[in-house]
Amino acid sequence: MQKFKYKLAENTIEKKEVLRLSKWLLKDERLTMGNKTKLFQKNFSNFLKVKKSVFVNSGSSANLLIAQSLLESGYLKNKTVIVPAVSWATTVSPFIQLGYDVKLCDCSYKDLGLDVNHLEYLCKKYKPSVIILVHVLGHSNNMKEILKLCKKYNIYLVEDTCEALGSKYNSKHLGTFGIASSFSFYYGHHISTIEGGMACTNNKNLANIMISVRSHGWLRDFNETEKRKLYKKNKISDFQSQFSFFYSGFNIRSTELNALIGISQIKKIKKITKIRNRNFNIYKNELSDFFSVKCKTKILSSFGYATLAENRDEVFKRFLEKRIECRPIIAGNIGSQPFWKRYKQESILPKAKLIHKYGIYLPNHANQTLEDTKFICKEFKKVAKPKFV
Ligand SMILES: Cc1ncc(COP(=O)(O)O)c(C=O)c1O
Repeated sequence: MQKFKYKLAENTIEKKEVLRLSKWLLKDERLTMGNKTKLFQKNFSNFLKVKKSVFVNSGSSANLLIAQSLLESGYLKNKTVIVPAVSWATTVSPFIQLGYDVKLCDCSYKDLGLDVNHLEYLCKKYKPSVIILVHVLGHSNNMKEILKLCKKYNIYLVEDTCEALGSKYNSKHLGTFGIASSFSFYYGHHISTIEGGMACTNNKNLANIMISVRSHGWLRDFNETEKRKLYKKNKISDFQSQFSFFYSGFNIRSTELNALIGISQIKKIKKITKIRNRNFNIYKNELSDFFSVKCKTKILSSFGYATLAENRDEVFKRFLEKRIECRPIIAGNIGSQPFWKRYKQESILPKAKLIHKYGIYLPNHANQTLEDTKFICKEFKKVAKPKFV
């Protein structure tokens, strides 16, 4: 018997997709960096309405790719970055690993994104080059105010959209507001390529750098004309060009197998968003006596239902008995995580600390029915004591 009846996430890859993949594998086609990767990138860009998408092996790799490509671009005036306290370990760690000076920003209770007052205080004090935000559990940050601050203080915005594929703010998809954005296709995310991620941008130069940094720093995956131009400019012979490295890169490519799955998965995103959105609204109505996010996401492709419980551990225990899965609101406060404490002293982040202590998120996925959602609400109400902010 499976441990949980009401799971946080379920596989979005159907049997027919696996069958298609098996048949395709027997055709003896190229298995890495071929037409399937290109097509998935193109279809993803079309869906999101961005110029370029770069397929990588995870959402974490997409963040790493963006952090390194921004350094290579020469766009940054310094190496200071503001990151959200309520976020994910690998939203923050690439910047630490690459030697950025990382400052934590507190969260807003309205949307669990960046607190714009604290953000402005940090912008004034540290004059950062980059802000990375996370659209937590599908909710949009306060994009209007954040974009204003980016303009005012001359800062590049990166959106970690790993939990918000399909969500829209003012009719525009999240992940299209900054210089770059990241997505995750890990099991349990809105769509899945088993493992996988995408880095997106409208900046052609940055896209080229990302394509190169993804694969060792070479130019092999550039278009022919641009490749020739660069080889000529750098006086690199045809022979030498085979192993010529222009940027300090990684190997964080995915494969054609994962791309093939991605091509069919992205076709389902609208349907998936609809169900996740419906479940979110049921939660919101049923749990109106509890904390809930009040942001202005036009379409909410909810990842999970965020709320607060004074007696979180008790809820967890009871839910285990009822075979309902639940989790903390992602990494809670990054400033309270052991890896951060080894990197820096804990910062003063009162709201993120409260989320760390009382935050809980409830299941939401494309196979979760209306009845499942109502059952989870009923069980939650039986045991949870509301925590107000
Ligand atoms: C906000 C956020 N960023 C990044 C990631 C990393 O994605 P992946 O698991 O594909 O590496 C996750 C994973 O859940 C996430 O929630």
